[in-house]
Amino acid sequence: ESYDMGGHDTYMHKEISEQADAVDRVLRGRIDDRFSTVHLGGLNLDAREARGVRRIKILGCGTSYHAGQIGAQLIEELARIPADAEPASEFRYRNPVVDPDTLYVAVSQSGETYDVLAAVQELKRKGARVLGVVNVVGSAIAREADGGTYVHAGPEVCVVSTKCFTNTVVAFALLALHLGRIRDLSVADGKRIIDGLRRLPAQITEILENEDEIKKLAAEYADAKSMMFIGRVRGYPVAREASLKLKEVSYIHAEAYPASELKHGPLALIEPAMPTVAIVPDDDLLEKNRAAMEEIKARSGRILAVAHQVQEKADHTIVVPKNENELDPILMGIPLQLFAYHTALAMGRDIDKPRNLAKSVTVE
Ligand code: AGP
Repeated sequence: ESYDMGGHDTYMHKEISEQADAVDRVLRGRIDDRFSTVHLGGLNLDAREARGVRRIKILGCGTSYHAGQIGAQLIEELARIPADAEPASEFRYRNPVVDPDTLYVAVSQSGETYDVLAAVQELKRKGARVLGVVNVVGSAIAREADGGTYVHAGPEVCVVSTKCFTNTVVAFALLALHLGRIRDLSVADGKRIIDGLRRLPAQITEILENEDEIKKLAAEYADAKSMMFIGRVRGYPVAREASLKLKEVSYIHAEAYPASELKHGPLALIEPAMPTVAIVPDDDLLEKNRAAMEEIKARSGRILAVAHQVQEKADHTIVVPKNENELDPILMGIPLQLFAYHTALAMGRDIDKPRNLAKSVTVE
């Protein structure tokens, strides 16, 4: 991959289109079929040390923080290690308790985000072990961390991160699988996840082939002044990232909420002028998500669902291919990257350089 636009009108479109190849690259050479695991050479964490990890705390900003939220869920699901993600900018100002059994993971596309770097330096000063999940090779965060893994997304030029988000989540899936297989994840489950990972590039291509339909849907919703994004558990960080993408590039106001929280306040906002994007995976929360959509319809809200099958309660559904439940979040956000792109294009926005934003925030 290069800096050449390769026939695309924007880097955002180019980078969205590169995702199947990018995911292929982050997987390449790392899968070990013999033990149903993956090798992540640069972690600098041997099996005994990995078994001693009691908690994992992931730190990042913006899109990388959202990728870290999905990463934390993957680690909890596959490795059964308590894990959570927090904005690095908040973490370092609350005088955090640094526990020797906690593994800290700093996540960053550029590897230069000041808030993340400062959090890493503070953690190191307190004797913590910090890994980096970083895209830019040799960047400040990669150098400062004790070890880690590169996400191999290739150069990302558009201020709005797309392919690096996807690759970062895949890198977290690899980390979760690696830790899981050292701990209690069975060979069968390891194999199931590996098979799922291998299906991703073809499934991404399938999603991207649906661009014309997504473009039409973007035109349908571009009149909205504000949009609600909802999801539950695995779907919630997907909703958060899709909402960030839409506001960054189109300047349409968007809010993301867990669907379960609607009734605790945001339902008051629902009316025909406030459409909802609902992330509806075919998992154990499907019926709960359907119930949330029913609540929205009862208030005359318009719904665009991203789901594994057409949702009757929704006005429109973007159907995405099903993978293993744990890996579904990797795919479900991709059509919404195109949705944000086409909305912004229809509105004549400066897609690669949205107002007030910089690619890398190297100051506080
Ligand atoms: C991405 O769309 C954003 N522009 C922004 O939130 C970004 O993810 C954030 O500033 C963190 O950057 P990093 O991944 O390079 O650390």
